[in-house]
Amino acid sequence: MRIAVVGSGYVGLVAGACLADIGHHVILVDNDEQKLAALGKGEVPIHEKFLPELLERHRGARMTFSDNLAEAVRSSTVIFIAVGTPPTEEGEADLSYVESVARSISGGINGYKVLVEKSTVPVYTSDWIRKIILRNATAPDSFDVVSNPEFLREGSAVTDFLYPDRIVVGADNERSAAVLREVYEPLTGAKYYREKTAIPGPDNAAVPPPIIITSAKSAELIKHASNAFLAMKISFINAVASICESVGANVQQVCQGIGTDSRIGPRFLNPGIGYGGSCFPKDLLAFRSVARQCNYEFRLLDEVIRINEDQRQRFLRKVRNALWTLRGKRLGALGLAFKGGTDDIRESPAVLLIKSLVQEGCKISAYDPAARPRAEEEFKSSIEFATGPYEAARGADALLILTEWEEFAHLDLARLRKELKDPIIIDGRNLYDPQTMAENGFTYYSVGRPAASAETLQDAAASPIKIRQA
Ligand code: UGA
Repeated sequence: MRIAVVGSGYVGLVAGACLADIGHHVILVDNDEQKLAALGKGEVPIHEKFLPELLERHRGARMTFSDNLAEAVRSSTVIFIAVGTPPTEEGEADLSYVESVARSISGGINGYKVLVEKSTVPVYTSDWIRKIILRNATAPDSFDVVSNPEFLREGSAVTDFLYPDRIVVGADNERSAAVLREVYEPLTGAKYYREKTAIPGPDNAAVPPPIIITSAKSAELIKHASNAFLAMKISFINAVASICESVGANVQQVCQGIGTDSRIGPRFLNPGIGYGGSCFPKDLLAFRSVARQCNYEFRLLDEVIRINEDQRQRFLRKVRNALWTLRGKRLGALGLAFKGGTDDIRESPAVLLIKSLVQEGCKISAYDPAARPRAEEEFKSSIEFATGPYEAARGADALLILTEWEEFAHLDLARLRKELKDPIIIDGRNLYDPQTMAENGFTYYSVGRPAASAETLQDAAASPIKIRQA
């Protein structure tokens, strides 16, 4: 099938490359000529596993790049709209890019087309797209607008697209639903997974994935509600972690206890320094605005956002409590990206925390396996950038773990201890077992678990009751 994907941002680029990999002919359209030129030369603008392979495999063959939207529409049956929907000052989604793309699409409609909303948009957007296109004197039966929300995560975007838990298609008639069924047939019919060249999926992949057909409005709500629910899960466990800290319980044990209830599930129950990224913070504000416009005050979302912000303040208090005064202290920081596996620092809690610490007079030496170039633009010379975790720790009064990169969970503890001026680690991602850290000579603080040090080891040894920590 011939498909145009409009917007070569995170979702557009990954969706385009994956649609090509499952057998379609894809034209990726963007109005940024520099970006197109870079893509045409084989440069990959984001750090994403398997994406370079896919672009290499299909560039110039099943995947081409263009800045001519009307032309791309004329030669395609399906047009995915994957342009940005940044937040306005009030937190609503700014749909001006979507509107301008919809206007340009109407100029290229030369037969039946299905326009697919792939960007995260508020409910009613598909109705608006339809109205805009009709205003340009396009025949009502020459196109349909379908909502097909994307659930991919940064860092595992390609496998999330190719091995989704489900595919949601919000189509208000059978004609357009049938076209989207055909688009995803290589996945839902499992043909793709039998191919030798298929990108390998996770062990627990739901293969083949189910396709859920809903109304367009339901699909639009599914996307906002999914992200809001996941953010709520994170804020919930962060709130529980705070109570654990007050009473001396261990949030990891609590998570094990609640996550094994199949109705709750263990995923997205990792406490930390709060969620960040280009999606959750923006989408929660947008969903709250949508609710408000529907005369519903979604106060639960206010609280999810408040707990998330508070989580960073709690971490700062932990740093202060561990070091007493902050002015002039040298801190190593592991992680700048908003989560592991990506170079994205948008709304990164690590970046926000480092900025607060710099303001309080700390000297920071930060290391991130991928996000350094982006972070250099953000911080300029206000912090130092280390080339590895041990260099970040060198001579520091304490080491902070801010992003859950896999490599930060396997550090050589003896070497780390030698590099640090004081063996203090404040782990915002719970990557280590507190007892192991104490046994290795560290004073170790984490989230929702008792602090551990040589003293706590002695106390535990003297205690008549032995409890094995999870
Ligand atoms: C999120 C959703 O997970 C995707 O399903 C969705 O498609 C995407 O937003 C989007 O709307 O485009 P993403 O922002 O890439 O994906 O990242 P997540 O893996 O969801 O992590 C978000 C934040 O929550 C990160 O800062 C992460 O560190 C934090 N997090 C995640 C926790 O603090 N604890 C957890 O248990 C899980």
